[in-house]
Amino acid sequence: MRLTALIFDLDGVIADTSDLHFQSWLQVTPEYGLLVDHALNDRLRSRSRRASLEIILAENGRELSESVCEDLMARKNQVYLQLLQGMDASALLPGVVPLIEEASAAGLRLAVGSASRNAEAVLRRTGIRDRFDLVVDGNRDLPSKPAPDLFLEVARQLATLPDRCLVIEDADVGIRAAQAAGMWSVGVGPVEQTGQAHVRFDSLEHVTLADVLAALAEAA
Ligand code: G6P
Ligand code: MG
Repeated sequence: MRLTALIFDLDGVIADTSDLHFQSWLQVTPEYGLLVDHALNDRLRSRSRRASLEIILAENGRELSESVCEDLMARKNQVYLQLLQGMDASALLPGVVPLIEEASAAGLRLAVGSASRNAEAVLRRTGIRDRFDLVVDGNRDLPSKPAPDLFLEVARQLATLPDRCLVIEDADVGIRAAQAAGMWSVGVGPVEQTGQAHVRFDSLEHVTLADVLAALAEAA
């Protein structure tokens, strides 16, 4: 296997933002009688903002007009942006910086492939934007995960083949997107969310590039 690029999902892989997204939804959904709990929040990992709202509505057996949906999403994002003001490098998940440094030193290209429209803000607040060659995020308005488009766009911009890219994801939809793109996948987190990946780790803490490559070689 010859890799040229590592593509990191952002939320839940690089930065611990899942609870901030959760808190933001909790600020705006109760007034419409919509319930969002931890289990439902986990299903929103790697889903775009609109896809997240659609899942929340479906789960609650509700429909809302387009204008109300737009308003809800805008207000959810205002809350999220406020919460981001308090974010710093302490939000980086364990092991991610050493892995990035190691991959960079090994000559791999580094990219972020995220559904979030706030990816640049999170990367800057955590101080690691400059470590990545490329960020492809939700502002590109590409079909959202599990569609492969976001990851394929990374490969296209890095002028590399999909099977030379390795995606690191914390969500089932993200792993499905990586596989649909014909890329290698590493799951980070519980088996229920990442069990479909080529290889899986509970977290990236103490996981070296050599560990990842050895596990992939075994899975290949
Ligand atoms: C990531 C997160 C999702 C979030 C999505 C959109 O994929 O895992 O929970 O809904 O980004 O984020 P945004 O910042 O655009 O609302
Ligand atoms: Mg994620």
